[in-house]
Amino acid sequence: MLEEIKKTAAWIRTATNDFAPEVGIILGTGLGDFGEKIEAVCTLDYASIPGFPVSTVEGHKGRLIFGTVEGRKVVAMQGRFHYYEGYKMTQVTFPVRVMKLLGIRRLFVSNASGGINTSFRVGDLMVITDHINLMPNPLIGPNLAELGPRFPDMHNCYDKGLIERATAIAEREHIKLQYGVYVGGTGPTFETQAEYRYFKAIGGDAAGMSTVPEVIVARHMGIPCFGVSVITNCGLSDEVGDHEDVQRQGRKAAGNMETLFKAMIREL
Ligand code: HPA
Repeated sequence: MLEEIKKTAAWIRTATNDFAPEVGIILGTGLGDFGEKIEAVCTLDYASIPGFPVSTVEGHKGRLIFGTVEGRKVVAMQGRFHYYEGYKMTQVTFPVRVMKLLGIRRLFVSNASGGINTSFRVGDLMVITDHINLMPNPLIGPNLAELGPRFPDMHNCYDKGLIERATAIAEREHIKLQYGVYVGGTGPTFETQAEYRYFKAIGGDAAGMSTVPEVIVARHMGIPCFGVSVITNCGLSDEVGDHEDVQRQGRKAAGNMETLFKAMIREL
């Protein structure tokens, strides 16, 4: 495994003329537009990268964008690998391993999720303060001791300093933020009403199908993480959302997320 990760990282270094990103970004569902905000120097389709998982979904596009945001070098994943697509957890998290070898020192993640906290509204941005993992743990198997410990600590999983910075930026930019615990399930089904109630009872604020494996692997390697979730539906509400309104809210939220990510990268 480690050899494959090293080989892929070496190939990318050659392909990008030794571009050394400081920040890794994972763009979630509906948030890929942030890719356009990157002053790109190089983009690589996942399909062209040796060792990268091969997409099983027809028409599923994904690429790595190398470039700068606010003058800082970043690498962004436009599209991620989900467990529900049939990938192994080692494949879902492979890009994070590679980004670490390329030199990233921070990981920013984003996703879409269903709100369970009843004070959340569609279109809200939730800063992820912690998570509950209901998927298979991506670290099951032989430990890659060169990259991290057998029993990684999961305190401060989402970096408190980065959360504080996000709060200060949001106040300044008049962006409304929610804060909460992200519950990561396998999907692909959305939750039943009973499951949303269960997620709430165990301390969750939002439900999703990604992010947790990537953050676990990043924390295994000691990378500070910052995560934001766009609330696209409210799991415990009986209301059927107006689709156009949901889309409008989603766009607004994506704009706020872009502002937040840009300012945070500038101020790192
Ligand atoms: N549950 C799980 N994943 C999701 C949801 C949800 O309600 N909304 C968006 N992604």
